[in-house]
Amino acid sequence: MTDFTNKTVLVTGSSRGIGLAIAKAFDAAGANLILHARSEIKPEVLAEFQQTPQTLQFDITDADVAEENIKALYKQEGFTGIDVLVNNAGITKDQLAMAMSPADFASVVNVNLNGTFNVTQPIFKKMIRQKHGAIVNLSSVVGLMGNMGQVNYAASKAGIIGFTKSLAKEGARRGIRVNAIAPGMIVSDMTAVLPEATQADILKNIPLSRFGEASEVAEAVLFLADSAYITGQTLTVDGGLYI
Ligand SMILES: NC(=O)c1ccc[n+]([C@@H]2O[C@H](COP(=O)([O-])OP(=O)(O)OC[C@H]3O[C@@H](n4cnc5c(N)ncnc54)[C@H](OP(=O)(O)O)[C@@H]3O)[C@@H](O)[C@H]2O)c1
Repeated sequence: MTDFTNKTVLVTGSSRGIGLAIAKAFDAAGANLILHARSEIKPEVLAEFQQTPQTLQFDITDADVAEENIKALYKQEGFTGIDVLVNNAGITKDQLAMAMSPADFASVVNVNLNGTFNVTQPIFKKMIRQKHGAIVNLSSVVGLMGNMGQVNYAASKAGIIGFTKSLAKEGARRGIRVNAIAPGMIVSDMTAVLPEATQADILKNIPLSRFGEASEVAEAVLFLADSAYITGQTLTVDGGLYI
């Protein structure tokens, strides 16, 4: 198994779902975790970790608040820097384009894309100084193939892919690799809200005939975080949905 002993890993949106599974996989691999969410992370969630994680609580859409929180982290005595950043926090507000409010379009792009930038920039600056780092961004297969009712989400997740490629080019010379994961349909709160008929329709198009597990996305995140010669890539973890 990949060893992340003595590595510090920040996973945004790690209070539940895929983010929590990613954080637990890094914990199992020996990493020091920093969990993050908009709301307070429950003590019972923290208790599931081998090494008690630090926690951050802020809304990623506020660039100033994100920067303040990250600066405070680096000011802590003995803090040696973030080795791996996983930008996982994200939301959906689905609606057909003809009925979608401009506010719902903007808020999904604001959380998923602007929020990713707001967290990444202050950490990327520090990674440049420390001359190493790995960043893994959560895109979605919807960012590659589009989806009815998700113009806002698909635009934000396609944006993540362009963001990833550009940042990979900027970071490479400083020893920073940046990659993305494009999950398909993963068992989570986000997919549980889909009507049963919609879930059944989607299933018909998944060659491996099942939704994925959050732990399977986590495996791919650890792989990209550890690989030395992969950067600027988007790895689909989708049971073949996109092929
Ligand atoms: N589920 C899927 O099938 C699927 C497929 C493809 C891609 N993805 C992507 O994978 C990522 C995780 O998905 P998920 O299904 O695990 O989501 P989830 O269960 O809904 O969890 C979302 C996480 O993001 C946090 N978050 C949301 N808005 C935030 C904000 N403004 N500021 C700070 N934190 C915020 C939430 O914090 P709180 O708990 O405080 O609300 C929570 O920790 C997302 O980027 C999603 O787009 C998911």
